[in-house]
Amino acid sequence: MNDKNHSIDVLISEQELQEVVQKLAKEIYRDFNNQEIILVGVLDGSFAVLADLAKQLHKLGMDKIVIDFMGIDTYGSGTKSSKEPRITKDLKHDIKGKVVVIVEDIVDTGYSLSVLQAMLSARLPQKLATLSLLSKDERREIEVPVEYIGKHIPNVFVVGYGLDFDGKYYRELPYIGVVKFK
Ligand code: IMP
Ligand code: MG
Repeated sequence: MNDKNHSIDVLISEQELQEVVQKLAKEIYRDFNNQEIILVGVLDGSFAVLADLAKQLHKLGMDKIVIDFMGIDTYGSGTKSSKEPRITKDLKHDIKGKVVVIVEDIVDTGYSLSVLQAMLSARLPQKLATLSLLSKDERREIEVPVEYIGKHIPNVFVVGYGLDFDGKYYRELPYIGVVKFK
């Protein structure tokens, strides 16, 4: 992007990200090895981690992987809103009786994830687990179960590898960076 009142410092390199995703894939493999699993990517930020995770699971020998996406508008995460969360893109697949793993880019306050978990568990999956590439533990305002966490990071605003700046830029970066304002 052109108008630069900020710079980006690398926090997690491309190489380290691949190692983190490999570690997550091994954990999923350990727990769900021979089973069919539905990976539910949370739009929009999860596309990068979901793509790499799915490929790593394939390399480990998992061959019953279904990939689906869900979008929800929680009307500004981190704020307690009186409005109902709205589904902007629903799943294609029926998850009743299925093993489902939610795939998130980052857990911050935990509000978005808690809404999504409630919506999906109401559909009666056999198992509902959650994976998040990143977690900002000190920002958590609501307790949410996240069984698989790639990396715990401090309270900084990060971009790249799916995560955006200003709702649009930097999702394409192959690394995770921290935005520094000048
Ligand atoms: P939560 O509901 O507060 O946990 O918010 C989670 C969502 O906020 C994530 O799925 C991201 O879309 C967004 N988010 C939180 N922290 C960051 C960040 O540091 N960079 C980019 N997006 C973030
Ligand atoms: Mg997200």
